[in-house]
Amino acid sequence: MQTKIRKLLKENNAVLLAHNYEPPEIQALADMCGDSLELSIRAADTDADVIVFCGVHFMAETASILSPQKTVLLPRADAGCPMADMITPMALKARLAAIPAMPVVTYVNSSAAVKALSTICCTSANAIEVVQSLTEDELLMTPDRNLAQNTARHTDKTIHLWDGCCPIHDRLSVADVEAARKAHPEALFIAHPECRPEVVALADAALSTSGMMRFAAESEASEFIVGTEVGLLHPLAQKNPGKTFYPASETMICPDMKKITPRDILTCLENMSGQVRVPEEIRIPALAAVERMIALSR
Ligand code: 13P
Ligand code: SF4
Repeated sequence: MQTKIRKLLKENNAVLLAHNYEPPEIQALADMCGDSLELSIRAADTDADVIVFCGVHFMAETASILSPQKTVLLPRADAGCPMADMITPMALKARLAAIPAMPVVTYVNSSAAVKALSTICCTSANAIEVVQSLTEDELLMTPDRNLAQNTARHTDKTIHLWDGCCPIHDRLSVADVEAARKAHPEALFIAHPECRPEVVALADAALSTSGMMRFAAESEASEFIVGTEVGLLHPLAQKNPGKTFYPASETMICPDMKKITPRDILTCLENMSGQVRVPEEIRIPALAAVERMIALSR
């Protein structure tokens, strides 16, 4: 299967991108694994004709926003993101009509239609930088209330919240972290900014998934309690032999990130199926918000 997939990728001048939470067998097939920001930048920069996106729907949409001339394939149409579903363009329009005019910072974990109504996007890797780049002192941050509150601790600006969250990260509790710290007293605790503020407050560092990879590689510590989706434990252990990684909670599993199988990749490459394309009237305004963010990282 692996040989067939590699052959089809080559024949179609296709690149396979995988998020850091994808299962090990998918990461092993990928040309590049990364966090949301790295994958967005790679999707914008690649000269491939086809992008096979092993992640969830909003990630494939972001690739299509950045590269409308490319064919973007999501091997499983039902790989979505519950947090992205917690905001709709209609609900955002209603909120904007009810508050004074202010910029809208939208997490990339959102639909293209919501990005199209936003001033600028952010990821977990650059949320603080994005907020600080604004000239205004007041802003609305959507859809993740945890990311917004964790960002608010690093700025004097007033951040209005949207009541959304990642159900997987939101379930990590202070009690879970205390239990993990008790079991592994020498370990550093690293948390994803999608975790609740009271959990992030306990962390030695709050980082995106790739930020955690770099932190673990550079740190002199040899044990880590990892406060994010458990899929990250595999690449962390693989890239850091001799270091030990413990899940902050075994329950942090995102079912949507586990849907794509090598068989799905083969099928989508054989049939060019699973295409994700954002209509131009949404893509153009969404692109402005995504490009403003990417410009800060270049
Ligand atoms: P990052 O990899 O950008 O940290 O994103 C985490 C996530 O939840 C993606 O769905
Ligand atoms: Fe969405 Fe959370 Fe799954 Fe990421 S881990 S795709 S934010 S539900």
